[in-house]
Amino acid sequence: MPTLAYSAGTLTLLVLALYMLHKLRLVHILLHDVRDQAHHDSAGLFRQMEALQGLYVELDLKHSLPPTRGWAASPDILLELARHARSAKPATVVECSSGISTLVLARCMQMNGAGMVFSLEHDSEYALLTRAQLRRHGLEDWARVIYAPLRPHLLSDENWPWYDTSDLPACLPIDLLVIDGPPQATRPLARYPAGPLLFKSLAPGASVFLDDAARPDERTVLQRWHKEFPALEQSSRPCEKGCAVLSAQ
Ligand SMILES: C[S@@+](CC[C@H](N)C(=O)[O-])C[C@H]1O[C@@H](n2cnc3c(N)ncnc32)[C@H](O)[C@@H]1O
Repeated sequence: MPTLAYSAGTLTLLVLALYMLHKLRLVHILLHDVRDQAHHDSAGLFRQMEALQGLYVELDLKHSLPPTRGWAASPDILLELARHARSAKPATVVECSSGISTLVLARCMQMNGAGMVFSLEHDSEYALLTRAQLRRHGLEDWARVIYAPLRPHLLSDENWPWYDTSDLPACLPIDLLVIDGPPQATRPLARYPAGPLLFKSLAPGASVFLDDAARPDERTVLQRWHKEFPALEQSSRPCEKGCAVLSAQ
């Protein structure tokens, strides 16, 4: 009997030790994940700080920009846009959604000494906020924020809530199109209509920048555009939320 009791005790101890080992292994894996995530986050943050500093230097800004990231564009894509706008010198820029990107692009137009940004904004409050920021930066002559509420557009027998473009000057050849709206919550593939509704207005050699291109929705939109507009060459830039660039011949 004592032998039986002894083996039962040993078995219990063994099970307990195995359980502890299993838990220790889980903690070990978790610590690795936390360390990797912290490293990834700080590297990403550093990259955004560098891009933001680059923006202030390259745009020689006299006033601070509103907060970036989150709902607003991130410094990395803003810097990509600024560099493109400064080198390609687009005469007409159209934007789907307004905000910091409007300020950055308007400042590029001012530095280029030519060009105009037309920014479609579906939310009247954000339209006012962006206009106020443009005034604060003395950039109101270089960008026009167009209040463009979302209205139904019928495309391939489907209804798409998308910007009302009736106040966008007609027959404008677009040299640069920046797509960062409407917000994802408006409907699945919310940004798809920019293709069928605006790509026909792209000037030869025009570029299209799509923000948030790493999201599944935007990846599907890019695939649809690729099928429907094969002449637009697609590439990407290394930005935290993903940035796709479509280039017209
Ligand atoms: C992705 S944001 C546009 C960001 C803009 N391109 C920029 O660089 O700041 C798309 C739309 O979301 C709305 N929006 C912006 N900030 C928001 C916030 N904090 N909460 C809710 N909606 C917001 C605005 O109507 C904007 O047109």
